[in-house]
Amino acid sequence: MAASPSSKLPNNFLWGFATASFQIEGSWDVDGRGKSIWDDFAKIPGKTLDGRNGDVATDSYKRWREDVALLADYGVKAYRFSISWSRIIPLGGRNDPINPLGIQHYNNFIDALLEHGITPFVTLYHWDLPQALHDRYGGWLNKEEIIKDYAHYSRVCFEAFGDRVKHWLTLNEPWCVAILGYGRGVFAPGRSSDRVRSPEGNSSTEPWIVGHSLILAHAHAVKVYREEFKPHQHGEIGITLNGDWEMPYDDSPENIEAAQHALDVAIGVCRILPYAASCSSMFRRYRLMDPIYLGRYPAHMREMLGDRLPEFTSEELAVVKGSSDFYGMNTYTTNLARAGGDDEFQGLVDYTFTRPDGTQLGPQAECAWLQDYPNGFRQLLNYLWKRYKTPIFVTENGFAVKGENNLPISEAVKDDARVHYFRGTTAALLAAINEDGVDVRAYFPWSFLDNFEWADGYKTRFGVTYVDYETQKRYPKDSGKFLINVSI
Ligand code: NOJ
Repeated sequence: MAASPSSKLPNNFLWGFATASFQIEGSWDVDGRGKSIWDDFAKIPGKTLDGRNGDVATDSYKRWREDVALLADYGVKAYRFSISWSRIIPLGGRNDPINPLGIQHYNNFIDALLEHGITPFVTLYHWDLPQALHDRYGGWLNKEEIIKDYAHYSRVCFEAFGDRVKHWLTLNEPWCVAILGYGRGVFAPGRSSDRVRSPEGNSSTEPWIVGHSLILAHAHAVKVYREEFKPHQHGEIGITLNGDWEMPYDDSPENIEAAQHALDVAIGVCRILPYAASCSSMFRRYRLMDPIYLGRYPAHMREMLGDRLPEFTSEELAVVKGSSDFYGMNTYTTNLARAGGDDEFQGLVDYTFTRPDGTQLGPQAECAWLQDYPNGFRQLLNYLWKRYKTPIFVTENGFAVKGENNLPISEAVKDDARVHYFRGTTAALLAAINEDGVDVRAYFPWSFLDNFEWADGYKTRFGVTYVDYETQKRYPKDSGKFLINVSI
């Protein structure tokens, strides 16, 4: 979205839409792509809400020229997308063949973006692990192997695309990979912890082993980039985490404290916390940042998990600490935090959107975890900036309009509730930058297109562009137009 003269954003601010390979590409067996863990998982009955999978998605592997043209029509300055590991190395591993057609595809795509003046912002891993690595050695469960294979895959990408790509994200939302994929079992590869109401749980250690591998794999990819590529490619690289703003449920001291602790521990500020509820949201989303920024897991995470939480060796920590050039953040909502709760992955904090007087925090989205409360966005930006003094890249932010999937297209594109959401979040973003002095350098609304919303299938639509899955025709929604015209 081109900034207008009235824009108050810095000149080099990156501003555009976001997607991810598995959610849009389809063509799972085209041009030598190998399977990813999501291919078969999405086909298991009951794993997606509508029983549909990613075989076609928005057909963007084939329709990429049309997609680039639409991005150019919108006028975006940048586009965040992810590379499919199993298109680049179909079997995933460091000794497996590289697929020239996969490289060619992303080369063409990147070139086309640049021809339209759109800056590519690339995620290396958005949850689509090559199936072969999972089958061969357990994927993320096998730290030694996955670190080497992920570093190799990253190196292949830096080599192939780094002359033109200057903005890299190693991993998208590692919390979801570890907790939803190996704790709750709702994401691929569908393993679940026996600690979390799951009679068929595989183990109570897997989410933490996976989290550990993810941090290390990220850090090793960054090391490869900084040592072998950054000196001549001059790009930046970091990780992106998911996190919400946490507000106290009411003004009782325990809930004020619970919300503060939820943020402190969750975001990674390791303090001595006085009571059990305080360790609550350590398992919520930000906490994987602690080792990266602070060089350790939160103390209470260790207290609660004991030896279920792996230890970093000093060699590992040397690679992990400081391994992100910026704070990458996907953020969607605000929660009301209360002391109490019994879910290991929620820690001991209980989260709600219902205020004590029975009113809702904001308009409800299609998905249960999301309400529209833009004030929280501004507060979160301020909080992160004060804590870390690190530039913030907002790599996702968006809203799924309730019931949108049931509407005729002509109605669905009039997505007032999404416009309302973005009116709030863009105002909050501008206020954070211009009034509060927060150093935010990028903003990527999610998503460019309606797409495969993981376990929700296609019923939950996050796009600023409507996709008719029968015809694959794209229809810009009012929110897309709003975001162009908002001139921020
Ligand atoms: C986070 C994820 O990165 C993305 O893949 C997902 O579609 C959105 N949030 C919305 O749930």
